[in-house]
Amino acid sequence: MNDTYGLIGAPVAHSLSPAMHNYWFKQYDISAHYQTHLVELENLDQAVSRLKKSGVKGFNVTYPLKTAILPLLDTVDEAAKEIGAVNTVVCSDDRLIGYNTDGAGFLEGLKQHFPELSGQHPSILIIGAGGAARSVALTLARAIGTRVDIANRTFDKAVKLSTACSVYAQSVPLTFKQAELQLDRYKVVINTTPIGFDIHENHPFICLDGVRSDTLFTDLIYQPRRTAFLQDAEHRGYPVMNGLPMLVYQGALAFEKWNGFVPETKKMEEHLIHKYLN
Ligand SMILES: NC(=O)c1ccc[n+]([C@@H]2O[C@H](COP(=O)([O-])OP(=O)(O)OC[C@H]3O[C@@H](n4cnc5c(N)ncnc54)[C@H](OP(=O)(O)O)[C@@H]3O)[C@@H](O)[C@H]2O)c1
Repeated sequence: MNDTYGLIGAPVAHSLSPAMHNYWFKQYDISAHYQTHLVELENLDQAVSRLKKSGVKGFNVTYPLKTAILPLLDTVDEAAKEIGAVNTVVCSDDRLIGYNTDGAGFLEGLKQHFPELSGQHPSILIIGAGGAARSVALTLARAIGTRVDIANRTFDKAVKLSTACSVYAQSVPLTFKQAELQLDRYKVVINTTPIGFDIHENHPFICLDGVRSDTLFTDLIYQPRRTAFLQDAEHRGYPVMNGLPMLVYQGALAFEKWNGFVPETKKMEEHLIHKYLN
């Protein structure tokens, strides 16, 4: 019988995770199937019990369940605990073990696409302070950043995330306006807000005048492939990276937790672009 894997969250219908994992299962001749389960926050307990009983080998967790799932797990990896969110669960011997591969996925994508950056210990600006920002900011602060500043609409949340990052790197909380005035300090600028995901709210929300010429602009959004923020940066001649590498590498690291090896990722990015994102 096939092993089963899945994704829980709401919404999940748009997710590329089934396409990605089922492609890898086929590629490596693994007899398994990955499918989405629409799970609202109020039904999380029952959904997790049902999955456990079904003998699922592992599952991914997405919005709005990444934090709410923590108390339902038997063990949570230290990095996921610090981030306060889990996106990957391994089911083993009736135990649920939680990990967070989002930040590590972003870092791996960055290393693959811009290998020169990680050795440079770049100064980094994170725009946003939500769940994805926490995962990316803490991972980068721990791994490569000398400075990881946080700009957020709700300033209190920028303060909280910046305080957490300052254990590993220099970090200050900023308003959007303050960030805009000191953009020339950063080698990497990462938009982690959903601005740009909705075509009605796709506008450049920060003015890029005066930025140094080698600054890399990245966005966690991959659909549209270029948000207005990335389009603006690209038109000005800056290098850019969208959220697709993060999606693929967080998936590859989840796959590794379940199967013990990291699957091929370069071709996966091309496959998803050609089949789903054109
Ligand atoms: N590529 C990938 O694999 C991947 C993985 C995970 C997430 N993502 C993407 O990352 C994005 C964020 O996800 P999340 O889970 O971190 O969401 P979240 O926890 O809801 O956080 C959203 C953040 O964006 C800010 N924000 C939202 N709307 C805004 C607006 N109109 N103006 C200014 N700031 C605004 C919020 O600021 P306040 O604090 O002021 O509310 C908050 O900091 C989503 O687009 C998601 O699709 C991509």
